[in-house]
Formats: sequence, structure tokens, C-alpha cells
Amino acid sequence: MTPPFRVEMLGAGHDRESFDCGVEALDRYIRDLASQDMRRMVSKCHVACPAGATTIAGYYTLAAAEVAVSALPETTTRKLPRYPTVPVVRMGRLAVDRRHRGVGLGAALIINAVTQVLHAEIAAFALVVDAKDDAAAAFYESRGFVSIADRVLVLPLATARKALRDR
Ligand SMILES: CC(C)(COP(=O)(O)OP(=O)(O)OC[C@H]1O[C@@H](n2cnc3c(N)ncnc32)[C@H](O)[C@@H]1OP(=O)(O)O)[C@@H](O)C(=O)NCCC(=O)NCCS
Repeated sequence: MTPPFRVEMLGAGHDRESFDCGVEALDRYIRDLASQDMRRMVSKCHVACPAGATTIAGYYTLAAAEVAVSALPETTTRKLPRYPTVPVVRMGRLAVDRRHRGVGLGAALIINAVTQVLHAEIAAFALVVDAKDDAAAAFYESRGFVSIADRVLVLPLATARKALRDR
């Protein structure tokens, strides 16, 4: 993460009340549900905070999932063994507070998520996202994700790793 933000796991010390991304469901999620999901081990929430602050400028969630190999773009699966499914990580939610929009934080959070998954000791073939609307799908496509179903997009991690190395 580039300064002035730091990314860390959501904790009790973060101010979740003031987060405002303009989408009520995503504001409510960080305020009321993200900690519960973490306690119940169904999702982990990573937050970006401005330097020296406990307010949340943006967040994303990660959870284990799997997808059918047949649902993935053929160009990415040609060399795979004939498994019916592959493990993936689902970025269930991504949101940036309105006061921090348009400065690259959303893109930086995707790179942060990719880096987390690439460094994890558990394999994942791709990062998968569910776009809540067409604008969100367009945002993900602008960051290299490929659509595999209605508003479901994937970023193969081998592709992402190569892109990060070539930067
Ligand atoms: C979508 C969202 C996360 C983008 O965050 P952001 O920090 O403003 O985005 P960035 O500043 O990183 O933008 C990165 C790039 O994506 C582009 N972009 C942003 N929103 C876009 C959209 N709706 N469609 C196409 N491209 C978009 C930007 O122009 C920028 O391009 P550039 O790198 O060529 O300049 C933010 O607008 C948001 O939280 N929206 C509400 C919640 C939401 O829609 N979440 C999506 C998951 S369902």
C-alpha cells in the first residue's frame, strides 16, 4: 500500500461508524457485520486507514471459495489438471469512502488483496469478485478482471503475479 494509507486487519480500535461509501449495504456491513463474520471465520476484513488515524478509508473482504474449471476462461485453464473445480479466493466486498475516491485507493486495495493471496500458504487459482452493478463490473474490468458470468469476474493469480512483476 502506498502512503498515506496503511492496510491492516479490522480490529476493535477502528472507527467503523463514520465510513460512508454511498452504498448503504456496504456501510452497514463494515459497521455491523464485518467483525461478526471474522469471529465466525467466514470472512476476513482488511481496512485501509489514513496515516495516524483509526478511521476507515476503504476495505475489502476475503474468503475461501471454489469455482468450476468449466466456468473459467479457457485460455487460463489449458494447462490445468482435469479437476472439476479449482480453489479461489472471493473478494466479497470492496468499498472506498467517498472522501477518498478517485485517488487510486480502490485499485491499490485490489493489489493489496492480490498480494495477500499470493503470499498465503494456501493455494488459490484466482481472485473472484461479485460486482454489485454494471459500474462496479466496469471498474473491475478496468483493473484486469475477466467476466465469467453475470457480474461475476475473475483475476487469475498467475496473470496478476506476472503483471506485478512487470510493473
Ligand atoms: C468502485 C470503488 C471501490 C472505486 O474506488 P476508487 O478508490 O474511487 O477507485 P480508484 O481511484 O482506485 O480508480 C482506479 C481506476 O478505476 C477507474 N474506475 C473507477 N470507478 C470506475 C467505474 N465505475 N467504471 C470504470 N472505471 C472506474 C478509475 O477511473 C481509475 O482509472 P485510472 O487508474 O486509469 O485512473 C468505489 O467507487 C466504491 O467504493 N464504490 C461504491 C462501492 C462499490 O461499487 N464497490 C464495488 C464492489 S461491489
